Amino acid sequence: MHPAQHPPGNGHTDGQRFRSVLGRFATGVVAITALDPASGRPCGLAANSFTSVSLDPPLVAFCVAYTSTSWPVVRGAKNITVNVLAEHQQPVCAQLAARGGDKFAGLEWTSSPGGNPVLDGALAWIDCAVEAEHPAGDHVIVVARVLQLDTHADGGPLLFFRGSYGRFDGPA
Ligand SMILES: Cc1cc2nc3c(=O)[nH]c(=O)nc-3n(C[C@H](O)[C@H](O)[C@H](O)COP(=O)(O)O)c2cc1C
Repeated sequence: MHPAQHPPGNGHTDGQRFRSVLGRFATGVVAITALDPASGRPCGLAANSFTSVSLDPPLVAFCVAYTSTSWPVVRGAKNITVNVLAEHQQPVCAQLAARGGDKFAGLEWTSSPGGNPVLDGALAWIDCAVEAEHPAGDHVIVVARVLQLDTHADGGPLLFFRGSYGRFDGPA
């Protein structure tokens, strides 16, 4: 039977199918970081929904779940920084995706020009200012204006595909 002719499933099956179908779209992974304006401590979350949007003006976007406890903190900072994660940073990704605790414990970082954490080993960083937030179902689409950006460490990218991590098998 052609996939389009599959009978509709219940909500649970629909969610599973959504994940299994959309999970076949491979992505990179970023860490979105900032300094908590209240404490001055680093905060952030891992995201694979990042994409470039516009060159003029320079805009990027990512989607954040309404259930995120870190996003309201990150959002409270004046600027945010997108760190493009490298293939060896899977543990860093897991740490930034874990809810609660000190997400930056044991992580080495330096400050971006905007003052936010640039993780050691990240392939690139992008300092941004949140420009717009568009509600979209159970997520919010965040559009951010690029203020400054640069490459950082060399290496291959961390890839996310079908719920697992992988490496880019090509020229880095
Ligand atoms: C590979 C990967 C990609 C993720 N991508 C997103 C994403 O695009 N948007 C999002 O809201 N959460 C994403 N998450 C989940 C967040 O990193 C984090 O787990 C979630 O925000 C809960 O933590 P928090 O309560 O500290 O925000 C991703 C997690 C992983 C491991």
